[in-house]
Amino acid sequence: MTVSSETPALEAHGLVKHFPVHRIRQRLRGRGEVVHAVDDVSLTLRSGEVTALVGESGSGKSTVARLLAGLYPLTDGTISIGGATVRATRGRLFREHVRRVQMVFQDPFGSLNPVHTIAYHLRRPLKVHGLAKNRAATRAATVELLEQVNLTPAEQYLAKYPHELSGGQLQRIAIARALAAEPKVLLADEPVSMLDVSIRLGLLNLLAGLVKSLGLAMLYITHDIASARYFATTTLVMYAGRVIEGGPSEELVQRPAHPYTQLLLASAPDPDRAGRDPELLDAGEPPSLVNPPEGCRFHPRCPHAMDICRTEAPGTTELRPGHWTRCWLYSADTEADTAQAPRPSSAASKEHLT
Ligand SMILES: Nc1ncnc2c1ncn2[C@@H]1O[C@H](COP(=O)(O)OP(=O)(O)OP(=O)(O)O)[C@@H](O)[C@H]1O
Ligand SMILES: [Mg+2]
Repeated sequence: MTVSSETPALEAHGLVKHFPVHRIRQRLRGRGEVVHAVDDVSLTLRSGEVTALVGESGSGKSTVARLLAGLYPLTDGTISIGGATVRATRGRLFREHVRRVQMVFQDPFGSLNPVHTIAYHLRRPLKVHGLAKNRAATRAATVELLEQVNLTPAEQYLAKYPHELSGGQLQRIAIARALAAEPKVLLADEPVSMLDVSIRLGLLNLLAGLVKSLGLAMLYITHDIASARYFATTTLVMYAGRVIEGGPSEELVQRPAHPYTQLLLASAPDPDRAGRDPELLDAGEPPSLVNPPEGCRFHPRCPHAMDICRTEAPGTTELRPGHWTRCWLYSADTEADTAQAPRPSSAASKEHLT
């Protein structure tokens, strides 16, 4: 198959991941319950671009990343890398998948092994993926990796152990280790949330620079919709296992459509927005993913819920080029109903969007 520059680095269609509920609980209750961690998630990651995946705790963001990285088997769905569908779950093709799609985790202290030096952590992927032929080439490659993440002079870091470095430096090592595999896709799962506020921007700028200079496709997972706006071209909003809105980051923040996106924005610390949308801010807790609500999973918290929201999951409605949502308020099928229904706040109303 021909791979053009337009071919996305990674495409996922209809991803589903159900985890079995604890076996003892299942035996007591006598049924095979599952956690619906991810249901019908599709996304596209393009080279040289950052896509943000935002949502509250437990919405399934990390599970999506782990599915894309090949760390969990899929319950359903397909993943294509560079236009080729990934089918292998072991062997050479699977190794190629896990080499091309690398992850950076939230906790830099937990993601490095305390008994090994930094040089060991960087040598290991080079060796596993056969990317450096001899000792001299390996050393040169490790030095270059450290320079790519701005840890210089590199020689100063090679013999150190993780406990001798700060959180920010360790996260740079974790990024360098991911780059050692020469990936096409980088999945950064809340890469700065455990770091001091003062060094977060430096790390995000480093990642943004690497995306451009190496042509990486990056998925940036975060709770913080404000950093997604700053950092990502496209933002996807996840709620209870589903992506419910997506679009260009700036447009999504300026004109959020889905009531949950409005809630996320209303909850983000922003002096300009203080005091707005109290109706949404009071709107309850995330649902159980063992028995998720029928229909739209946000309906128990949604101030605009209609009858159809309680029974049928909404399809995708395109609001503007590239900006879409899954919400009955915007669906052509419920146009007549929504005329009488309470409108979403002004930022989300259809009049505002057109
Ligand atoms: N290995 C697992 N086994 C069983 N359930 C799991 C497993 N991993 C995640 N889950 C469940 O799947 C759901 C989604 O979890 P996930 O970690 O993907 O959320 P998240 O959006 O990354 O949350 P956070 O922002 O807290 O990191 C949660 O209900 C979680 O308890
Ligand atoms: Mg997570």
